[in-house]
Amino acid sequence: MEFKNNIIEQIGNTPLIRLNKINSGLKPQIFAKLESANPGGSLKDRIGFAMIQDAVDSGKLKPGGTVIEATSGNTGIGLAISAAVLGFKSICVVTDKVSIEKIDYLKAFGTEVVVCSNTVKHDSPDYYITVARKIEEETPNSIFLYQYSNQSNPRIHYNTTGPEIWRQTDGKITHFVTGIGTGGCISGVGKFLKEKNPNIKIIAADPVGSILKEFKEGKTIGEGTPYLVEGIGQDCIPQVIAFDVIDEFRSSNDFDSFNCARALTRQEGIFCGGSTGTILKVVLEIAAELDENAVIVFIVCDTGERYLSKFHKEEWLRENRLMKKEIRTLSDITNSKKLRSGNSEIVFVNSNEKVRKVVELFDTKGFSQVPVIEDYKSVGSIREARVMSKLLEDQSLLDAPVSKIMDVSFPCLESRTELQAAKKYLTESPAILVLEYGRIIDIITRYDIIEFSEL
Ligand SMILES: Cc1ncc(COP(=O)(O)O)c(C=O)c1O
Repeated sequence: MEFKNNIIEQIGNTPLIRLNKINSGLKPQIFAKLESANPGGSLKDRIGFAMIQDAVDSGKLKPGGTVIEATSGNTGIGLAISAAVLGFKSICVVTDKVSIEKIDYLKAFGTEVVVCSNTVKHDSPDYYITVARKIEEETPNSIFLYQYSNQSNPRIHYNTTGPEIWRQTDGKITHFVTGIGTGGCISGVGKFLKEKNPNIKIIAADPVGSILKEFKEGKTIGEGTPYLVEGIGQDCIPQVIAFDVIDEFRSSNDFDSFNCARALTRQEGIFCGGSTGTILKVVLEIAAELDENAVIVFIVCDTGERYLSKFHKEEWLRENRLMKKEIRTLSDITNSKKLRSGNSEIVFVNSNEKVRKVVELFDTKGFSQVPVIEDYKSVGSIREARVMSKLLEDQSLLDAPVSKIMDVSFPCLESRTELQAAKKYLTESPAILVLEYGRIIDIITRYDIIEFSEL
């Protein structure tokens, strides 16, 4: 029989996956250390087990006890797994920045979840770490594991993640890149790798808004500004960070981080969270500065499943103005217009309507052209400048039917037409009619193209 004795034995020994597409044109070999392949879907399964086991070994945690943690979610999940197997209760204090998927996940393991506001100051009694301390005081036989100062955190990465990377790269690794939440991973892995080869560069990827990069660079520390990537970056300095093993910090903004995470998923099939996107942005940046002798390893911190209601969803990206420009066809423009105005009605006239009606339309709606449509088919067009010059000559035309003064129809193009091809028609005509299965669904003007190309 081939089996593991329990799910804890499945933690660690995660694979290294080579990147093949997203790095095209770059010279170094780049490998993703797939921490998302841990049973709880993140690198935090390792410390979840280590912090509990070390607390048991040191006698601080007794059978039937409760483990408490202040966590952005992943550590809680890691703890919940080991607590379940080893027979402990768990309580997690999270901030309301954490995705609903992570909270539900914890609850599924029977963990009690306490949610605190993300915006309160550190000296507030409602600050999530202060709340966790209070729960420890009030709960008999409990321990607040506090990953930010718990040395079991960097130690397990020194004992497992570091040696795995060294072995898997056959000692050829030249650069290690990861993010810093508590700093456990970078400190443990960094220390191990530096001991093996002090020339290995340890690089931290920090979200724009975090204070860690500035701190390392010796600059005055500001307050930190909000950002949307979860799990990494800080507005204060965690105790476990071993700054001496970190050679360099580089930053990435939310836009680049989320779009890199999405690209890793779509191009390499590696489903990941936003912190991995921050790390990958930095990896691709340094890879562009290195030659073919470089071997870069970076951490895939957690799985993208945890962010399905967030940056892996286009609506969320649009709401947060983080959507990458991907307008390629007329249908993309039609969809963006619908999303923005919520209105998809096309304004048009019939050929037997009076010219007066068209003039009113130009006046009230601010249009410069309207299509003449009958039975969903375009039969002509009215363009403001031409109508006005005809009316100047003969004002009685106001009561004539539209058919008397209309021009040829605007070009009709299928919604799947490439934007580039459609643009050519707009040099001649002020607008294009968009067709879907032969029916007119939208009118796109030169103005629309300019506006939506800028998004
Ligand atoms: C999603 C995610 N990525 C990265 C990290 C960073 O790991 P560490 O705490 O070891 O610095 C964390 C930890 O908080 C995390 O939750």
